[in-house]
Amino acid sequence: MKKLTPQETRETFLDFMESKGHLRISGSSIIPKDDPSLLFINAGMAPMKSYFSGKETPPQSDLCNIQPCIRTIDIEDVGDRHHLTFFEMMGSWSIKNYFKDRAIDLAYELLTERFEFPKEKLYVTVYGGDKEKGIPADEDSIRFWQKTGMPDSHIVVLGEDNFWSAGDTGPCGPCTEIFFDTGDSHGKSYEKTGEFDTQNRYIEIWNAGVFMQYNRREDGTLEKLPFMSVDTGSGLERMVMTLNEKESVYDTESFKPYMDFIVDKMKLTDEDGMASARRVADHIRAATLILSEGVVPGKDGRDYIPRRLIRRSASIAMLRNAPGFSFDTLTKMVIDNMGQAYPKMRINQEAIRQTMAQELMSFQRSVKQGVRQFDKLTRDSDTLTGQQVFDLRSSLGMPLDLISELAKERKISVDMEGYKAEFAKHQMISRNLGGRK
Ligand code: SER
Repeated sequence: MKKLTPQETRETFLDFMESKGHLRISGSSIIPKDDPSLLFINAGMAPMKSYFSGKETPPQSDLCNIQPCIRTIDIEDVGDRHHLTFFEMMGSWSIKNYFKDRAIDLAYELLTERFEFPKEKLYVTVYGGDKEKGIPADEDSIRFWQKTGMPDSHIVVLGEDNFWSAGDTGPCGPCTEIFFDTGDSHGKSYEKTGEFDTQNRYIEIWNAGVFMQYNRREDGTLEKLPFMSVDTGSGLERMVMTLNEKESVYDTESFKPYMDFIVDKMKLTDEDGMASARRVADHIRAATLILSEGVVPGKDGRDYIPRRLIRRSASIAMLRNAPGFSFDTLTKMVIDNMGQAYPKMRINQEAIRQTMAQELMSFQRSVKQGVRQFDKLTRDSDTLTGQQVFDLRSSLGMPLDLISELAKERKISVDMEGYKAEFAKHQMISRNLGGRK
């Protein structure tokens, strides 16, 4: 595999796609334009939905770019090896031009010849179909993968995970994804009839094609799009991680300086500590980008996302009792590192740092209020109900970790199952706007 920097990786991808006739276009802002179905742009295709439906005509049928994305649905997964709230997606599209065979050939050529991935370490997933919805299994993709030389033992047929859409409505279709095998130290190897571990051992490096052919209506039913298109995407940070054989995206040069700073100042050396450090690095990097767009932390919708990211990071710092740690220093590091690619970070630097400081202060105030409320609720009871935990979180912004710590300290039991049920009820509402994994 080629050891490439993030910039070399972006250029290798764009250069390859251009050499195959794709027009390089700019990425868009993370704030969607005229699309109430999304809080943030969550995939390269999201700003281009109208090309897939035929409402607008693209400048050329085949396109490529790098698109910053915010995936709010992934926030709970952050802390593992490869999930991020803010990532850059390398994407290519063919609107009403080529379809599965060329998309698969291009992905395979790029990965094995340009990036020089060893063929035996690549696995692919394809859509197994859905009888109820009347969608057939994607036999074509299986055939096209076989044609590249991909062994059957590396072709995995999956269900829902291989049907992709940017939100609950709009253009969608079956997809085929490519995974890199990070080896025995990360879990059992895949056996043809067994489970395919996409969390730890096998890391998705390319969605080699969502084969756009349906539009999902408000009521969830599918109608055929007027023509078929291809939408591909690859997370830059994961690509850099695998190319450079790093343990996680946080060990790549895009995150290393933040991680070193956080680990050192918060003294996070154990495994739990490492996951916490990853969360802080991810959340402050994502929040900085969101604030650079002028979003102000608040109670609902889009505004709630930076609030959640900042408060979750602040509660980690609080629980770790790390007086030497400065959010302002970390924010400044993000701006210095990313300001060239995202000029609004530099232009709005003062506002970003000020907003961050204000949010941290208001968080401290609400934690104090939260602790008072916690004590009131448990004055005559040694249990907190699910509903009470949910209210402490949603009305007063108390992070769950802090509630659990307080409960432990004061010997109060917490109805976590009840809380989860309450949370799931509300998550249904925001999930509709958060995009797919
Ligand atoms: N839109 C698809 C995804 O995000 C392919 O880029 O996975």
